[in-house]
Amino acid sequence: MLGEMQVKVYNAPFFPSGRQQLKLSKRLKQIEQMVGNGYDHIWDCCCDHGLLGIALLERQAAPHIHFVDIVPELISNVEAKLQKFDSKTQSHWQVHCLDTAAIPFDHYHGKHLVIIAGVGGDLISMFVNAILKQHPNLNIEFIVCPVHHQFALRETFRCLQQGLVDEALIKENGRFYEIIHVDNRQAQQKPINLVGEKFWQATSTEGIESAKEYLKKTLVHYQKIQQGQKKNVDHIVDAYQAITI
Ligand SMILES: C[S@@+](CC[C@H](N)C(=O)[O-])C[C@H]1O[C@@H](n2cnc3c(N)ncnc32)[C@H](O)[C@@H]1O
Repeated sequence: MLGEMQVKVYNAPFFPSGRQQLKLSKRLKQIEQMVGNGYDHIWDCCCDHGLLGIALLERQAAPHIHFVDIVPELISNVEAKLQKFDSKTQSHWQVHCLDTAAIPFDHYHGKHLVIIAGVGGDLISMFVNAILKQHPNLNIEFIVCPVHHQFALRETFRCLQQGLVDEALIKENGRFYEIIHVDNRQAQQKPINLVGEKFWQATSTEGIESAKEYLKKTLVHYQKIQQGQKKNVDHIVDAYQAITI
């Protein structure tokens, strides 16, 4: 785990008038669309350029939007970007130069949505484990978009009794991404499926083609690991082979 860095927090009203529209990638746009209402704090973790958080700020998705990254220069750049804006909305932003695993959620009252995208599923598992261990009684939902290790991440969510709220599959620049929204209050109603569920039930031609291609690629990936015999992934291969589209 990365060590905790000194927290650097700024606070200012956000004002979107008179500036250039920032373009979101297809993947970030999909994540942005999956963010509903009712959160007090939304955390764009591992934010890098901060584009996702800025889009959420623009639409005032929550009263408080937080930008978190462990690299000081990135957070300074995001801060400089945010300071250029001016307007009259009630949404506020804060930047935090911090390890995502060490965010002090208990210093902020209300319902949290933690978004973690663009890093590995193993790192996201570590973050989610650390966050829920430190704050077992807080109201925290997660939307994650790992770059790999989706199956292991879903296993983590299942162990932590996180239930599925929503999920999506996105293809961007020839690469597939799963986006998974979980909530521990959903665990009874909708346990998370280890290989995903919703995107295998696509009804549009594009959705079906995309799902078929993703399934094929994923199976090839795990079958190669299976043949290498260094790691037992038989249960993963079986689970993907059982999918029908
Ligand atoms: C590839 S970028 C992802 C940017 C954006 N979230 C996206 O999906 O396009 C990964 C970012 O994670 C940040 N990062 C890596 N480990 C971190 C940690 N432990 N805590 C916070 N940020 C971290 C890196 O500094 C980098 O900016």
